[in-house]
Amino acid sequence: MSVRFNDRYAASFISTDEYAHIQPMVNTAHSLLTKKNGAGNDFLGWITLPESYDKEEFSRIKAAAARIRNSCQVFVAIGIGGSYLGARAVIEFLKSPLYNNLKKDTPDVYFAGNNISASALSELLSICEGKDVCINVISKSGTTTEPAIAFRVFRALLEQKYGKEGARSRIFVTTDRQKGTLKQFSDEAGYETFVVPDDVGGRFSVLTAVGLLPIAVAGIDIDELMAGAAEAMHEYSDPSLEANQAYRYAALRNILYRKGKTTEILVGYEPYAAMFNEWWKQLFGESEGKDQRGIFPASVIFSTDLHSLGQYIQDGMRNLFETVISVEKDTVSYTIPNDPDNIDGLNFLSGMDMNQVKKTAMQATLLAHVDGGVPNLLIEMSDRSARTLGHLIYFFELACAISGYLLGVNPFNQPGVEAYKKNMFALLGKPGYEDQKAALCARLN
Ligand code: PA5
Repeated sequence: MSVRFNDRYAASFISTDEYAHIQPMVNTAHSLLTKKNGAGNDFLGWITLPESYDKEEFSRIKAAAARIRNSCQVFVAIGIGGSYLGARAVIEFLKSPLYNNLKKDTPDVYFAGNNISASALSELLSICEGKDVCINVISKSGTTTEPAIAFRVFRALLEQKYGKEGARSRIFVTTDRQKGTLKQFSDEAGYETFVVPDDVGGRFSVLTAVGLLPIAVAGIDIDELMAGAAEAMHEYSDPSLEANQAYRYAALRNILYRKGKTTEILVGYEPYAAMFNEWWKQLFGESEGKDQRGIFPASVIFSTDLHSLGQYIQDGMRNLFETVISVEKDTVSYTIPNDPDNIDGLNFLSGMDMNQVKKTAMQATLLAHVDGGVPNLLIEMSDRSARTLGHLIYFFELACAISGYLLGVNPFNQPGVEAYKKNMFALLGKPGYEDQKAALCARLN
């Protein structure tokens, strides 16, 4: 098994019959999901995606990625939320958070259109100066403000640099199959387009063209990623909590939530996991946080954050539990050098592999936090490979869906995301929002 869920460090916080009590509810959630008669059932395309994905498009993704690799030094992926987090998480996890600074034969990959920052945009434009650039705008709706602004800017840059004709072969668009202004515009302009399937929501879309094109540009084996997800899809088909570890994770989260553990902290022990944490936070936060319910998803990277948030986790309000991701087989090792003068008194570590120290830090922290009243759920990945990460992505997507149904919410919509947009459009003077603008201005002044 490439991903294993280990709940032994949560055992002291629940009684053994709690799994048995929640099993009927899990069965109901499983039935809603597999019979597709639960809330949000028009967004279940991700369930079979690891095998039912469009093979023709998959080949086009690989071909486009190869062309991009050969024709640019900088690749800019433009998108926000579910339209960028998955790709960035996978690239950083499997390559490095410092991917752009490493020696490599693939282009630098930057992400734009995920903020409203003049500084971020200007900095990226200056990075692009004198370099060959390709872009991929990713937006299911095609109307999201942040990526739309960035696309305007980068399209103009490319047209200025290469002419309209030259820019055409450097602009790739991932959007709805047929609806929306972006699709229409791309067809008219002659850009190559890829599809965000109708039945796959943004935060479940990393294994579609949304994530796969940028991931393939970075030189990651997308066949392996899909194979890992397919392996998980088969592994987690039985609803029994004895057999299904993704469901067991979802069930345990729900049991803890009912005991007042309303914040879950996803813990990574490697800086390369930081963006994966961000992907996970969107997945669970946007799926569960509704109807005044839901576990608040937070994240940390240890040991870094043990020196900032460690105090709170050990000793603060006891409404927390942690889900720790541990990668069993490290890809890189580093031996701690000896210091003949032993100035820091650390010669007891001389000759030891840094990974051994990291794993010991993890064990020590886990026991300390459990002693401090924080249940620890452990997810053990066998290695840091595309296959195992594909498996983990599916594990979380499935657990999230079951968890949402256990909570009694629709895990596949995100009505709350619209509230800020309406206010922003009104305040910015978008036509049609005049009444709201007056009311908002009165509250602000
Ligand atoms: O998960 C989601 O649905 C959101 O995060 C969207 O992906 C995000 O808002 C971007 O939307 P779009 O792809 O339509 O530009």
